[in-house]
Amino acid sequence: NKRVKIKELLTWEPAQQEVTVMGWVRTFRNNQFIALNDGSTNTNLQVVVELGKYEDDFLKRITTSSSLKVTGTVIASQGKGQKLEIKAATLEILGDSDPEKYPLQPKKHSLEFLREKAHLRFRTNTFGSVFRVRHSLAFAIHKFFHEKGFLYMHTPIITASDAEGAGEMFRVTTLPFDNPPRNEDGSINFKEDFFGRTTNLTVSGQLEGELAATAFGEIYTFGPTFRAENSNTTRHLAEFWMIEPEMAFCDLEDNMNLAEEFIKYIIRFAMEHNREDLEFLAARLAEEEKQLPADKRSDMGLIEKLEFVLNNNFERITYTEAIDILLQSPAYKKKKFQYEVKWGVDMQSEHERYLVEKHFKKPVIVTNYPKEFKAFYMRMNEDGKTVAAMDILAPGIGEIVGGSQREERMEVLEARMKEMNIPAEELWWYLDTRRFGTVPHAGFGLGFERMVLFVTGMSNIRDVIAFPRAPKTAEF
Ligand code: 4AD
Ligand code: MG
Repeated sequence: NKRVKIKELLTWEPAQQEVTVMGWVRTFRNNQFIALNDGSTNTNLQVVVELGKYEDDFLKRITTSSSLKVTGTVIASQGKGQKLEIKAATLEILGDSDPEKYPLQPKKHSLEFLREKAHLRFRTNTFGSVFRVRHSLAFAIHKFFHEKGFLYMHTPIITASDAEGAGEMFRVTTLPFDNPPRNEDGSINFKEDFFGRTTNLTVSGQLEGELAATAFGEIYTFGPTFRAENSNTTRHLAEFWMIEPEMAFCDLEDNMNLAEEFIKYIIRFAMEHNREDLEFLAARLAEEEKQLPADKRSDMGLIEKLEFVLNNNFERITYTEAIDILLQSPAYKKKKFQYEVKWGVDMQSEHERYLVEKHFKKPVIVTNYPKEFKAFYMRMNEDGKTVAAMDILAPGIGEIVGGSQREERMEVLEARMKEMNIPAEELWWYLDTRRFGTVPHAGFGLGFERMVLFVTGMSNIRDVIAFPRAPKTAEF
């Protein structure tokens, strides 16, 4: 008979149906009760083994994380909290798991410990829930844009341009490390490289996305991006996934509206499709917060927080207003901020978190930042000092979205690039979008892992990506 996944099986009415299930053993009690998990849900299936039917040597091999094929009948369960169980007719051990060597115990492990056992942590409930939610969010992202008629563009991973102009790139080269070809002045001769020039891993697909948007109208990218910033924080990865929609005939206001609608859509999708996992994660978070002093605990549970986000508008303020709020704040007056607060200075994460967690207590969109610390492609405002940028800040996370209306006026863009030492010759292809039929356009980038953090209530970005790449973490 056909294999049934446990998640599906648990929705059945027990009626002596014959089934086959396969999975990994979580626990085995009294030589009788196996808790089996196949990754489709955190709820284990109870498999009841007939007493006296098997040799002790066989039963000893049913250990945590050994894999089993079970056929049997679905019967009503006597145990509490479960509707049904399987009365095993045949039990086959597919793979043993030596309990002396298997590193995880059937108990709660700390996330730090599991980070060291990252290759096996998927076999725990917490990571089961996190990755099922992550999957749903990814699926919802495609669904959202597909329904709106956006094209999914695959922008290059290997690129010659620095889209953010921030110089945080991983170099890609085929030249030998130990003895690269040199120019006369001793510098490395990248013209000898496979690509004939220096190339990098992309930091953002935006510039290529603009090429596509100025032909197809509305597009999005969803792919890995790389930043060689040596930030050893709970919010930064060297390799992270980013979603970057880009829209022609779109201004800053339209851009904000889309971003807010988009974020709410994918949260709602996860709430509808991953209720069980979100409830598990909510309970995990509540448990974890019990360890914190009362004033550090959040005033809402995870599910409540997500519902609140769905039911309320994001706050929208300008950078200038944000600085005013910070200057008026009790935190500023009591000198609680470590970094300077002043118009013209970039906000640090302590300032962003004050705005969203203490002042507004909800997501905030900050617009019109001073041009000095924003990218070259952002549209200059009338005041000549600020640009049409927007960042979305989320409680508990800080910046989750960065975006802007783009500078579509060729002369203004060229002047700005010159001012910022961005080489126009190298970006000739980008400038062609302004040369031939330029249009007002805008877009943004959502950091996928930061979004997953927000929805799952996890606190370290390394726990929401399968194989985190961060300083000193790349064993596999
Ligand atoms: O603000 P950023 O640098 O914006 C861009 O890359 C633009 N090209 C986006 C656009 O307008 N199309 O990055 C966008 C988002 C940030 O808000 C943050 O959520 C995430 O990407 N991000 C990171 N996430 C994890 N680790 C890092 N090192 C990140 N750097 C940025
Ligand atoms: Mg940013």
